[in-house]
Order: sequence, then C-alpha cells, then structure tokens
Amino acid sequence: MDPKNLLEVIQTRRSVRVYKRGKVTDQQLETILEAARWAPSGANTQPWELVVTRDREKMRRIRQIYDNEWRERKREDPINYKGLKKDYVGDVSVIVLVCGDARTKQVYLTTRQPADREKLFQASIANAVQQMMLAAASMNLGTVWVSVREEVEPELRELFKVPTSLRLLWVVPIGHARSWPAAKPRRNPAAFTHLEVYDSRKLRKESEIRAWPKS
Ligand SMILES: Cc1cc2nc3c(=O)[nH]c(=O)nc-3n(C[C@H](O)[C@H](O)[C@H](O)COP(=O)(O)O)c2cc1C
Repeated sequence: MDPKNLLEVIQTRRSVRVYKRGKVTDQQLETILEAARWAPSGANTQPWELVVTRDREKMRRIRQIYDNEWRERKREDPINYKGLKKDYVGDVSVIVLVCGDARTKQVYLTTRQPADREKLFQASIANAVQQMMLAAASMNLGTVWVSVREEVEPELRELFKVPTSLRLLWVVPIGHARSWPAAKPRRNPAAFTHLEVYDSRKLRKESEIRAWPKS
C-alpha cells in the first residue's frame, strides 16, 4: 500500500455535521465494519458492540433526544451553548451506536488498577471508531464522532434496547456530506513532540489550554 494514500485519507477526514440525501451502500457499510473489526484492542478483547440503524423513525427520535438535551443545557448556560446545534445527529443514511462490553476488562489479568483497565477499554473502542471513520473517509463518506453524555444515555439505551451490561459510548452518523468542511487548525508536530526527554519549554500555559478556533 502507498502510505501517502493513508495519510491523505487521514488528512481529508472531517467531522461532517451537515448531510445531504444519498445512501451509504451495504457494501460501503460492510467495509466500514470490517475496518472496525481490525482495530487493535487491549489483549485483543475487541470490546466494541455496534448497533447499526437505517431507520428514519429512530433517527428522528435520536435527533429529538439530542435537541431536548441541548435546549435544557442552553437554558442553564446560554453563553457556551449559544448558536451550537446538534441536529446532524439524526439526519443521515446510517447511524452506528457504539457500545462496549466492559466485562472484557476482566481479561486484563496483568493490569490491576481499575483506572488502567478503563483506559485499555476506552482506547480499544476509540480505535474501532477511528478506523470506521477513516474507512468512511476513504470512500468520501462523512462521519462525526458524537458523545453520548449521561443526560441522553438512558433514552438512547431504551430506544436501541442496549442491555445494561453494556456501556453506551458514542454515536457515529455516516452519510454524504452536503459540503466537505474546511480543515480545523492543528498543532504543529514540533509543538507536541519532545526529543529524548520532555521539553518543558513546550508545556502549554494554562491560558493556552482552550478550545481551538472553529476554522
Ligand atoms: C472523543 C471525541 C468526542 C467528540 N464529541 C463530539 C460531539 O459530541 N459532537 C460533535 O459535534 N463533535 C464531537 N467530536 C468531534 C470533534 O469536535 C472534532 O473531531 C474536532 O473538532 C476536530 O475536527 P475534525 O474532526 O473535523 O478534524 C468529538 C471527537 C472526539 C475524538
């Protein structure tokens, strides 16, 4: 494989929040799920469980759940929630609900601390998500990594009949972008790379730890 192709896909992937009509074919979906399958995971536990929907009614309901939550948060904090919208969550060809089986943490026999086990579990699932997103991007399909906050979790769980033994972690819409978003700014590798030992001159000041500009 030409590594340039992979880097190109990595660099062109965007969080797509506005979608147009157009189907993600079964074959494309299969490719995306195959990409998840090959994600590395702690002790090869493969803890992900993916609920896939194409059902418009469920999507409408997901949108409603996110909208309601957003309105609620906006009431509490009109400044930070101003202008942001969450309606992309339910308006696509396919939605993947990313769950994880936390019982797999038992397999990490040599990792004793709960926080370390959680780290392995979360990172493993994040890998599967990222691989799906890259596979989608390689086929010019848009995705976005959407958080399932505690406020929306119970309703989503009920809608998708997710057993209580599973964690419900992320929502990933997949579809055709209405327009491909511009790249968001990225830190320069020189700013986050440290040769041999950590270069504390590069440690960001508190004032620099902030949300990056949107474009
Ligand atoms: C763990 C994680 C959680 C995220 N949660 C959300 C989310 O809830 N809603 C959203 O619109 N974007 C979410 N994003 C997408 C980020 O905002 C996005 O990746 C970042 O701004 C960089 O933009 P890009 O993906 O277009 O390069 C999330 C990304 C990650 C990795």
